[in-house]
Amino acid sequence: MTNASDWQGTVGRSWASEWRRTDISFSELTPRLLAKIRREPGSTVVDIGCGAGELAIAVAEARPEAQVTGVDISADLVETARSRNTSANLTFALADAAQWRPALPPDLYVSRHGVMFFSDPPAAFAHLAAQAAPGARMVFSCFRKPAENDWAAAIAALLPKSDSPLASPTAPGPFAFALPDHVRRCMAGWHAVEFEPVDFRYIAGSGPDAVAEAMALFRRIGPAAAALRTLPEAERGGVEQRLADLVQAHHHDGVVAFNAAAWLVSATSDHNDG
Ligand SMILES: C[S@@+](CC[C@H](N)C(=O)[O-])C[C@H]1O[C@@H](n2cnc3c(N)ncnc32)[C@H](O)[C@@H]1O
Repeated sequence: MTNASDWQGTVGRSWASEWRRTDISFSELTPRLLAKIRREPGSTVVDIGCGAGELAIAVAEARPEAQVTGVDISADLVETARSRNTSANLTFALADAAQWRPALPPDLYVSRHGVMFFSDPPAAFAHLAAQAAPGARMVFSCFRKPAENDWAAAIAALLPKSDSPLASPTAPGPFAFALPDHVRRCMAGWHAVEFEPVDFRYIAGSGPDAVAEAMALFRRIGPAAAALRTLPEAERGGVEQRLADLVQAHHHDGVVAFNAAAWLVSATSDHNDG
């Protein structure tokens, strides 16, 4: 489980310091998500849980006539996103998207893995719909089941059982939106909810020392990171060694890659002029 206060604290700080590596980890998914977003009209676009801003930056560059806002609850990530931004039509807001009131009603919401952490998802999605322009659209990505995501399942299997973050399938966290029926129940205020599966390689490490890159990523991000932060010293060494062996086994052709599986979800707001 990863909740708002985790993102406002350690987890947000880790993602802010690791944004180059997390962007690379999604590098085979992002073009697929952007291609889907490109097919949607939208001149007031909001990126929910924008993190360090890669998606919002790409959308703002692709739509110079649009006003784009990235919203995130982590001050560290918003600061990082602002420092990367060179587009005049893009701003970032530090806020809880479940309560934030935009200056103009968005006609398109987008998100790369930023909508699975609400403590009360139906209330959050109903709020997003209520703020939106009539007929607004939403397009986001989220992970499918852990079993289809080797990068998480294989790492969780290395941890002591009590430290597995994959125990509860719908608790707020990276896998909370794995099950379409659950997502539909969460998306109050939205209809025509559609799911497109995308399989991709999660790139944990690349470049001249891909193994070291992957180890650096997994020490800060993902299932091993929390365990390594909290486990007693005596157990930490074993997890590190098993993680190193796993990373080495996934190192081929200069890249450390794991199978990953996501949904691209799209929906239309119920909110209309009437
Ligand atoms: C898995 S990260 C994805 C970040 C970014 N979209 C990316 O692809 O790199 C999830 C993001 O959602 C943000 N988040 C979580 N709960 C939120 C909320 N209630 N309102 C706004 N942002 C939230 C986190 O701070 C984090 O940046």
